[in-house]
Amino acid sequence: MIAEDLTALEALGIAIRSEMDAQDVYKDLAELCENEELKGRFLNMYQEERRHQVLLENMYREMFPNVDIKLPPSQLPKEVNNKSARKKLGIKDVLKHAIDEEKKAREFYLDCVSSVKDLSGQRMFRFLADMEFSHQMILNAELEMIEKYPLYFENPKGWEVESRLRAGR
Ligand SMILES: [Fe+2]
Ligand SMILES: [Fe+2]
Repeated sequence: MIAEDLTALEALGIAIRSEMDAQDVYKDLAELCENEELKGRFLNMYQEERRHQVLLENMYREMFPNVDIKLPPSQLPKEVNNKSARKKLGIKDVLKHAIDEEKKAREFYLDCVSSVKDLSGQRMFRFLADMEFSHQMILNAELEMIEKYPLYFENPKGWEVESRLRAGR
């Protein structure tokens, strides 16, 4: 939640950091998965978060042309805030954390919409809130598929539905 006493400068710092966190998570999710199509989808989301970071950095520079950007530390919970922790968790659990983070990001941006005064700022935060919501929906769908068909997404080479059917397994 964006507290009333959070300044625009602090809020932008948190937003930029959380976009960087999201990029780290999607890059690792892409690495964790053997399925090329799913990997591509995670890499797309990585690119989108990268673009969000650039949008926010531009806004920062416009609002605070004379203040160097100082970012807070990672906003991720400790279970996923570094690469080796994420590797240990595996694709499904990292994905669950990613869904939570998208939810949080959306709420944060909606709070920003109601606290910024100028229209273009409101429009930008509304756009970001909507994007994070769409990420959340996409990830929910991916998680559902992975839970239903773990082999297909984790090890597509071992996924031979035809031969399984023939063998009567
Ligand atoms: Fe984002
Ligand atoms: Fe996102």
